[in-house]
Amino acid sequence: MSTLTDTTRAHFHRVFGGAASNVTHAPGRVNLIGDHTDYNEGFVLPMAIDLGVTVAFSPRNDGRVRVYAAAFDAVHEFGIETLAPVPQAHWPTYVEAVVWSLRQSAVAVRGLDLAIDGDLPIGAGLSSSAALEIAVARAVCATAGIAWDPMAMARAAQRAEVEYVGVPCGIMDQLTAAEGRIGQALLVDCRSLDRHVVPLPPDAAVVVIDSGLARTLASSAYRDRRRECDLAVDTIRTIAPGVRALRDVDAQLLADAAPRLDAAVARRARHVVEENTRPAALAHAFASADLATAGQLMNESHRSLRDLYEVSCPELDAVVDAVRQHPACYGARMTGAGFGGCVVALVDAHEAPIVVRGLPQRAWIVASGDQRA
Ligand code: GLA
Repeated sequence: MSTLTDTTRAHFHRVFGGAASNVTHAPGRVNLIGDHTDYNEGFVLPMAIDLGVTVAFSPRNDGRVRVYAAAFDAVHEFGIETLAPVPQAHWPTYVEAVVWSLRQSAVAVRGLDLAIDGDLPIGAGLSSSAALEIAVARAVCATAGIAWDPMAMARAAQRAEVEYVGVPCGIMDQLTAAEGRIGQALLVDCRSLDRHVVPLPPDAAVVVIDSGLARTLASSAYRDRRRECDLAVDTIRTIAPGVRALRDVDAQLLADAAPRLDAAVARRARHVVEENTRPAALAHAFASADLATAGQLMNESHRSLRDLYEVSCPELDAVVDAVRQHPACYGARMTGAGFGGCVVALVDAHEAPIVVRGLPQRAWIVASGDQRA
């Protein structure tokens, strides 16, 4: 990370003609299990990873923000007073969105110069947008002189993405970027927002493999899936008025409601209801060092995302099938929103380097129980 700090400072110096006063960083994430459950007020088990977004910054004495993104070699400038939501998932929009959202939360945002760099692949399903949002939020908080409050900042960043950028995401990615510790999974109840750190068993490693397919369809399909979940809730409420979200539905209630649901909507709901039990089950399997069960849960999750939620794609399925062939692999699944992006695999810690070397795709060992302090 120190090299990234140096290169980000160097970009700042070159673009803005002076030294940055400070540098901050936010990590990407991989979700171990519990996908498409966060916006259904359910459970997730993400982990912050050692790839992220670094921001070098200095305050300005006017109400302007100038931001340079190394990945695009481009500068964008805006005034903080005149921001208004623009539904456009383009990098400067995320920066504007965070500034706008923090101002909505009564943070006294100052003018800023920012240089952004990172080693987190963009659009690979490792939450580069949440890492960007949280790194910018850290810079804004530092210049405004306010202490870092991970939960408040995760909510502000989520609001930025939902209301300004127009992507109706859940809280998982922003919360992990704001609070997650690298290599430690976080079991999150997305209704109460209670969190528990879940250590990896000593013999396990987490490997992330990039399918190479950018998540192009993700945002429209994501909206469609959210709508289908809302439809399921509306219908289930006709027989169980206390239901607020799919989080409140169990297998029996879903079976009772099934005749009233459209077949695709019923499949989506079934995925959510079943997937919602997996984060706690995986945390339990980790605590008992039962890697066979842990791997099986990941395999079941992939099957469900592929066949019921229908957010996988041939490229992700092929990577999942290939890595599972390795005798050191306990299980593998797509991770995140789907339609491209990455696969996460649970492998034997001692064999992890061999597994990674044998894969044709870009892959990282993002955590290893072996290296626990
Ligand atoms: C994206 C969203 C998250 C979550 C996942 C799917 O990463 O940003 O909030 O919904 O998809 O689990």
